[in-house]
Amino acid sequence: KAKYLIAPSILSADFARLGEDVERVLKSGADVVHFDVMDNHYVPNLTIGPMVCKALRNYGITAPIDVHLMVKPVDRLIPDFANAGASIITFHPEASEHIDRTISLIKEHGCQAGLVFNPATPLHYLDHVIHKLDVILLMSVNPGFGGQSFIPETISKLKKVKTLIRNSGRDIRLEVDGGIKVENIAEVAAAGADMFVAGSAIFSQPDYKTVIEQMRDELAK
Ligand code: DX5
Ligand code: ZN
Repeated sequence: KAKYLIAPSILSADFARLGEDVERVLKSGADVVHFDVMDNHYVPNLTIGPMVCKALRNYGITAPIDVHLMVKPVDRLIPDFANAGASIITFHPEASEHIDRTISLIKEHGCQAGLVFNPATPLHYLDHVIHKLDVILLMSVNPGFGGQSFIPETISKLKKVKTLIRNSGRDIRLEVDGGIKVENIAEVAAAGADMFVAGSAIFSQPDYKTVIEQMRDELAK
């Protein structure tokens, strides 16, 4: 199992040439495709759905697709994303009526399951379900838009979650999303994260390979 995973958020990719752009970022060394789903209800923005996920699979993308659901309600979309080729599905606990049921639904459909925490979402949502999770995703910005600044309080929250993961004795990925760039990735890794979403930091640069290599250099320090 890879120690660190880099997951470019395609929110900042070129939607008019999405297949090519995703292929390019993967060839540049990315591990996972982070797929942001926004519904103009749970968050104030509107993005892409299962049809686009399916289109990426049909185009030939074979890397894991990490579907970050910023939608309410959640459950209806899970079978659709599983059938569209999602590998991981994460959701926000406040957006689900029955958190345990939603986790089970994701797993029954053959995907890895994760809970997502906004900067102000309390960690007690992990009680009684942490043992069922494959991923815990901490938002380091408020969800809805790419290109925001990293919220520094995320560092202490990451450390708390890392301890909870250790105490659970389970092999759970600790993913972080929002404002991640070459300059802060080492500090975020030191706090316990092992999967890094980065949208604007990668897609705003002409050469994705250079940014991803710089991130890996920081992680190796
Ligand atoms: C925010 C999304 C993020 C976002 C990250 O709601 O969940 O995945 O695209 O973008 P950057 O890396 O630009 O903060
Ligand atoms: Zn995201």
